[in-house]
Amino acid sequence: MISVLFVCLGNICRSPMAEAVLRSKIVQRGLSEKIKVDSAGTGDWHVGSVPHEGTRKLLDNWRISYEGMTARQVDSRDFSDFDYMVAMDDSNVDNLRKVPGGEEATIIKFMDLLPDEQLREVPDPYFTGNFEEVYRLIDSGCDVLLDRIVREKL
Ligand code: 4NP
Repeated sequence: MISVLFVCLGNICRSPMAEAVLRSKIVQRGLSEKIKVDSAGTGDWHVGSVPHEGTRKLLDNWRISYEGMTARQVDSRDFSDFDYMVAMDDSNVDNLRKVPGGEEATIIKFMDLLPDEQLREVPDPYFTGNFEEVYRLIDSGCDVLLDRIVREKL
């Protein structure tokens, strides 16, 4: 089983959106037995919470399931448990580096999947309110990531 962990700050806006979007693409491509997805936050404020209303609305609009998803905090074990760790912005990468075991981990910056975009970080919609922009980036980036996983591991 190949595993992917998306990481953001609160694990209620960006990383759960990416988890749900990538999982739906995995299902569409018949790869559910081969690739699993999870998400976590570097912060602990929202542990146990369902995704933010803005993320839920977007996913509802696109008929993408987020059933059973609740926020959790990143853990040292994640560095050995996951094949791909994908962080939404630079501060997420910095925070991951401070978690024991994270100093030398291979961390993908989400926007490095989309080199033609001007934005180099996924903007935090908790502060911008712009969940549509985040969905557009996440949908495109997850296509690129899935192609990359299939190429590298399957
Ligand atoms: P996320 O957004 O990292 O995309 O889940 C945030 C959610 C909550 C907070 C910050 C960002 N917060 O400060 O509580």
